[in-house]
Amino acid sequence: MDCKLNPTKLKNAQKALLGWYAIYGRHHLPWRDRLAPNRAYRVLISEIMLQQTQVKAVLEHFYFPFLERFPNLHSLSEANVSEVLHAWQGLGYYLRARNLHKLAQICIHNSKTSTLAPQDRENPLPCDIYLLRKLPGIGAYTAGAIACFGFDLPVSFVDSNIKRILLRLFALHSATPSLLESKAKSILNFQEPFNHNQALLDLGALLCLPKSPKCGDCPLSGCCLGKENWQDFTQSKSMQTTKKTLHCGIFI
Ligand code: ADE
Repeated sequence: MDCKLNPTKLKNAQKALLGWYAIYGRHHLPWRDRLAPNRAYRVLISEIMLQQTQVKAVLEHFYFPFLERFPNLHSLSEANVSEVLHAWQGLGYYLRARNLHKLAQICIHNSKTSTLAPQDRENPLPCDIYLLRKLPGIGAYTAGAIACFGFDLPVSFVDSNIKRILLRLFALHSATPSLLESKAKSILNFQEPFNHNQALLDLGALLCLPKSPKCGDCPLSGCCLGKENWQDFTQSKSMQTTKKTLHCGIFI
């Protein structure tokens, strides 16, 4: 019953996921506001903050003060790096702030040397995942998240929560990044990529938990190949390392 191989099951699963998200999703998260001005920039800031910081902390302490201080890429690019580091205080992993500052300067520089529509000059963040990935601090996940959540592009991506969902859904003991990316693409809802991907993030955070998943409440349980043995399809960091014992002897 591989979702990828059965278009009807896939459609039903996508519908069930969106239905669950409509009721239980974290719609209040401000970076999910599709009508906000400078939306892609706001998504960028949230995604960089969320790389190593919990949603609650970002929401309660860091997201809004940072946006107030640097409301767009232009203001960020014009700041001193010390000002950016100051605004980043408390978030830790300061390389993120340095990269963000460099990213803003690169985007603003590129906007001056290329022809952009006037409305794009204030926030000249690329929407193309290949261009995004060239920017400092932007990996595959973040590029996909910006393209989808900032620009509504039908792009799939994998973070640790989505990885766990995919391992269980397809009953995979382990998987290479490229296999996971192809599985994520195989279930992507091309009509509603924004809600589909936000729903997957919520499913991983709220139901498809590492230790005690709530399979009874999961909208994907109808096509989840791993739900009976979810422990077998939960590749944690410690499980990825293979223990090897080296036996040594001295022969005289
Ligand atoms: N972590 C990374 N991106 C997120 C998002 N858009 N919503 C909730 N958690 C996230």
